[in-house]
Amino acid sequence: MMKKTWVSTLMLVFTVVCVFGAANAGDHGKARPTKKGILLVAFGTSISKAQISYKNIERAVRAHFPDVPIRWAYTSEFIRRKLAKQGQSMDSIEKALAKMMDEKFTHVAIQSLHTIAGWEFHDLRKNATLFGQMTGGFDSIRVGNPLLSTDNDFARVVIALLKNIPKSRKKTDAVILMGHGTSHPVNAAYAALMYHFQRKDPYVFVGTVEGSPEIDEIKEMLLVRKVKTAYLMPFMSVAGDHAINDMAGEQDGSWKSILTKAGISCSPVLKGTAEYDEIVEIWVDHLAKAISGLD
Ligand code: CO
Repeated sequence: MMKKTWVSTLMLVFTVVCVFGAANAGDHGKARPTKKGILLVAFGTSISKAQISYKNIERAVRAHFPDVPIRWAYTSEFIRRKLAKQGQSMDSIEKALAKMMDEKFTHVAIQSLHTIAGWEFHDLRKNATLFGQMTGGFDSIRVGNPLLSTDNDFARVVIALLKNIPKSRKKTDAVILMGHGTSHPVNAAYAALMYHFQRKDPYVFVGTVEGSPEIDEIKEMLLVRKVKTAYLMPFMSVAGDHAINDMAGEQDGSWKSILTKAGISCSPVLKGTAEYDEIVEIWVDHLAKAISGLD
């Protein structure tokens, strides 16, 4: 009886030492000051004019969270390499988080500036979670959702973009939004968005460059409705390469060329969605949720 009690006591002491020791392994028992940070994660762009979108986001984030340092990361390796050749260094998510860990940030809210929760967003979530598990690393790490995540986001996006259609557009002129598109199942969000738009304005269409709906499907819809004029607008945060070339370009295969050949005259609007403050507010609200979730 006596022996058994001793063994239990020793095991309890051992457990307490292990748990306490592990929790303090990173800082040798010294409490460290809380340091909050924001990491903004975008696909990236190498077109300097398109930077206006990211600057607008940073301005809004800074206004909402004036005391929290902001860092940036680009998910596109292609863009990062291209920028590096021009002498501009941009971090990947992993590099940015490693630097923040080094700078002794304890609480990090990461905001995905993606439009939909596709492959890049899920990779981001996965690696953020892994960073959160490192000994001596962050106390808390949270990831804010991309633009289109809830029904309310869809409703807000529709209102925001309808408000920003050029004033010259007549009721039966089409407005075609160019989304990026993806092989991820969340690609369905683009058709869903078109549904939400058309309940408010039957002449707004949503297509994608690399997924569905494709431009040929949109073209068929326009011809059925005898549309003669279309406004082309990017549904991407920046008006970058896809908007300039695939949407508004003069070459064969651009949306402008395809529709012009079908007898529809096109007016491209080269503005990324992050240039509209009402859209940026949605990302900022998602970030606010992530920040309030830091514990
Ligand atoms: Co692309």
